Amino acid sequence: MDKKVTVVGAGHVGATAAQRLAEKGLSDVVLVDIIEGVPQGKALDLMEAAPIEKHDSQLTGANAYEATAGSDIAIITAGIPRKPGMSRDDLISTNAGIVKQVTEQIAKYSPDCILIIVSNPLDAMCHVAYEASGFPKNRVMGMAGVLDSARFRTFIAMELNVSVENTHAFVLGGHGDTMVPLPRYSTVAGIPITELMTPERIEALVDRTANGGAEIVGLLKTGSAYYAPASASVEMAEAILKDKKKILPCAALLEGEYGYKDLFIGVPVKLGAGGVEEIIQIDLTADEKTALDKSAAAVEELKGVLAKL
Ligand code: APR
Repeated sequence: MDKKVTVVGAGHVGATAAQRLAEKGLSDVVLVDIIEGVPQGKALDLMEAAPIEKHDSQLTGANAYEATAGSDIAIITAGIPRKPGMSRDDLISTNAGIVKQVTEQIAKYSPDCILIIVSNPLDAMCHVAYEASGFPKNRVMGMAGVLDSARFRTFIAMELNVSVENTHAFVLGGHGDTMVPLPRYSTVAGIPITELMTPERIEALVDRTANGGAEIVGLLKTGSAYYAPASASVEMAEAILKDKKKILPCAALLEGEYGYKDLFIGVPVKLGAGGVEEIIQIDLTADEKTALDKSAAAVEELKGVLAKL
């Protein structure tokens, strides 16, 4: 294949992302992990599924970064996931060290690649990767909004008994309890959900979305969600690899947009071959802006924690 994607972290999210990339025929995939044998074993296992799944993606596993050279995209999932009772923010000191180290290696071997960060706490890890890579801001982004919006879309479809394909949803802000689902911009076949549901039901779905990650952690008990996070990161990778100019909510570095400076936070962006090609500024009501301000303050606080590590 003429495209190459490295997935760092061959755990639940990383291996599932590798599987989806290969089975969609998007790229060759290099899986990297610190555990010896695991990325190699998972890559080989996925290769052996290829004749049945009918794709020609080459999958390789590695513990070092030489094999990642010349990647178009690196999806960074390395780190620890949360357990019941933990918030994403509890992962910050461990994951900041891991994300810094792996980003430096990726940047060394693929200086022109685009980074999609998945490790949590997401927005803070984008800051770590942005600094460690030295890449321009259009080539560093975080996966959160696509996942949070997919969760909101799922709950809307379940509530109204309609196809998920008819649902669109926007969730902005940081990837945490303060995320900002936007019902006004969330639609079923173009109709805003505010015309289809009572405010109470919308509030319940918004709340379930904001706590969607914790709901899965509570059920799994030993780790966090990975099927939907992997799908979300691959949707972003596909938009970039195919230069689709797709509008998706992603964590992007804001430099004045929405009134924030030097802050990674989830906003609608245009994703294409250049990475984040445009930050789309949509009008927010006073209440929506207040909620986004609260979310931005939570990310700022984590930036403060990073500065002290
Ligand atoms: N380099 C490469 N891989 C690493 C490193 C490192 N320095 N440190 C840890 N890893 C690997 C682990 O060995 C493990 O295989 O990262 C992988 C993480 O996989 P899981 O423990 O299964 O976690 P997962 O569910 O995939 O979540 C990964 O994504 O959604 C976020 O919050 C989640 O931060 C977490 C990350």
